[in-house]
Amino acid sequence: MSDSFTKSMARNIYLGGSVFFILLFLVLTFDTVRTLPKRDHRENITPQVALGKKVWEDNNCVGCHTLMGEGAYYAPELANVYDRFGKNKDVIKMFIATRPKEGVPGRRSMPQFNLSEQELDAVAEFLKWTSEIDDANWPPNIQG
Ligand code: HEC
Repeated sequence: MSDSFTKSMARNIYLGGSVFFILLFLVLTFDTVRTLPKRDHRENITPQVALGKKVWEDNNCVGCHTLMGEGAYYAPELANVYDRFGKNKDVIKMFIATRPKEGVPGRRSMPQFNLSEQELDAVAEFLKWTSEIDDANWPPNIQG
């Protein structure tokens, strides 16, 4: 190394870089915590949305599907299924309710869950609520 690059210069780069990135991390964390309540529209979490989340968890929907990118990649992403199905909760309910018991021959398919009308309505309401989260347009396309 040339004489012009001294040990103290190296130390300053190390310390300066560390301080810079720690501050950046703190600022971004603060910004996230501040803006999240506005983005997740938590004021719209009705008892029905909460029940829908419970139906979602009890039936392990996330074992096959992703929700905002989180979950398994076996079946379509569902954070935007409400938009994909023409902003119509009934289409979502119908899809879940009419899955054949034995699956669709020759292709991967979704099981029949035998949900009650109330559970169907709740899980569709949960998916509607999820689609309305301000998630910076993730996923970036309407397909599953
Ligand atoms: C064993 C895996 C599996 C589980 C568990 C599962 N699904 Fe599915 N789901 C699928 C597959 C595969 C498809 C695509 C099937 C098709 O297009 O015929 C699908 C499709 C869907 C669709 C339509 C998506 C689209 O864009 O066409 C909805 C809505 C849906 N599932 C909701 C649910 C809900 C709600 C649960 C939990 C109650 C659930 N799924 C659990 C496998 C699963």
